[in-house]
Amino acid sequence: MKSPHVWLRSETKTFERRTPLTPGCARELVAAGFEVTVERCDQRIYDDDAYQRAGCRLTEPGRWPEASKDTIILGLKELPEDSFPLVHAHIYFAHAYKEQEGWRELLARFTKGGGRLYDLEYLVDEDQRRIAAFGYWAGFAGAAIGLLAWAKQQGGARPPLGKLSAFENKNRLIEEVSDSLAKSGTRPRVLVIGAKGRSGRGAVDAATAAGLEVVPWDLEETRGGGPFARINAMDILVNCVFVNGPLPPFLTEAQLRLPGRRLSVIVDVSCDVHSRFNPLPVYSRGTDFREPCLELIAGEHPLDLIAIDHLPTLLPVESSEDYSRQLLGHLLTLGDRSNPVWDNALRIFQQKSAALAANIKEPQ
Ligand SMILES: NC(=O)c1ccc[n+]([C@@H]2O[C@H](COP(=O)([O-])OP(=O)(O)OC[C@H]3O[C@@H](n4cnc5c(N)ncnc54)[C@H](O)[C@@H]3O)[C@@H](O)[C@H]2O)c1
Repeated sequence: MKSPHVWLRSETKTFERRTPLTPGCARELVAAGFEVTVERCDQRIYDDDAYQRAGCRLTEPGRWPEASKDTIILGLKELPEDSFPLVHAHIYFAHAYKEQEGWRELLARFTKGGGRLYDLEYLVDEDQRRIAAFGYWAGFAGAAIGLLAWAKQQGGARPPLGKLSAFENKNRLIEEVSDSLAKSGTRPRVLVIGAKGRSGRGAVDAATAAGLEVVPWDLEETRGGGPFARINAMDILVNCVFVNGPLPPFLTEAQLRLPGRRLSVIVDVSCDVHSRFNPLPVYSRGTDFREPCLELIAGEHPLDLIAIDHLPTLLPVESSEDYSRQLLGHLLTLGDRSNPVWDNALRIFQQKSAALAANIKEPQ
């Protein structure tokens, strides 16, 4: 049986430096008999040459639509906006199944071209656990910039953080955090909620690497239901819970206005701002790397919020290495039917596409 041809497309999303396939993992695909084509990409954290040395064929950015029909197109973020029918199998985060902006148009392009979508968010094992996720590095980066914001706040900086760029590696990030904390001459109390999960563990590790102790909460500590007055007595809250149903809020606006509040930085890694289950209903929009902090309360004792929905981008090396390694074992099974992950993802795509088609045919 012929091994698949995997084509890594270039990423175009601003600030995105990560990749789902590192040169090291590409080398392993090549060694297993895969043909691997890589589009040159200036913003990818790895040099194009590293892929060439790994045995991949290099090509110019955006050439994937010309690839033969049986090629599997691998990417991370959205396809560049266009309208031509999609004929290939695509593996990437399509953000199309929760009715996000443009989902109809995208799925209709697949239906029209006969292509297939293996959404990275829906690659799950028999226990419905994601086989690859960036969560750990979201928590790590989120907690680290929360600490940075808090340290700058102590020196009176408003806003506490300016535009952020990707860090060379996690050590550089932690060095910067530790230096800023040392300059502030004081140490924050840090609460992580969802501390046992992927991003929660990352958040705890970042704070620990910066020499801090963390108060770790998970299901047990929040069982009684919020709001939790104790959060006001912390300096930094890092929220990392995974919520998929209603729960009482952890915090309320009224609580934040109470006298004696110590809390001055909230990092919402979960970023459920547009969900009706959001346990932090104290803000109404996310932030980004250009303006990481949103001032929730001004004045002598301000409260700043960070809610960036692509935090792992801040650590493109570690997050790419980790993610690519998690994905590789599954990519290696692309040509056979032994791994249910691919068929499961395809079934979800077919269900969503069928639902969309049925919806379109319904009389107005
Ligand atoms: N901002 C970003 O860049 C980014 C990146 C990746 C993931 N995320 C988001 O972060 C969230 C967490 O992802 P994850 O991979 O860490 O999930 P996970 O499932 O690994 O961990 C979630 C944790 O939350 C805990 N939890 C759930 N409900 C709770 C409650 N009521 N009280 C206390 N703890 C509770 C769970 O027990 C678990 O330990 C998700 O919403 C995910 O979409 C954000």
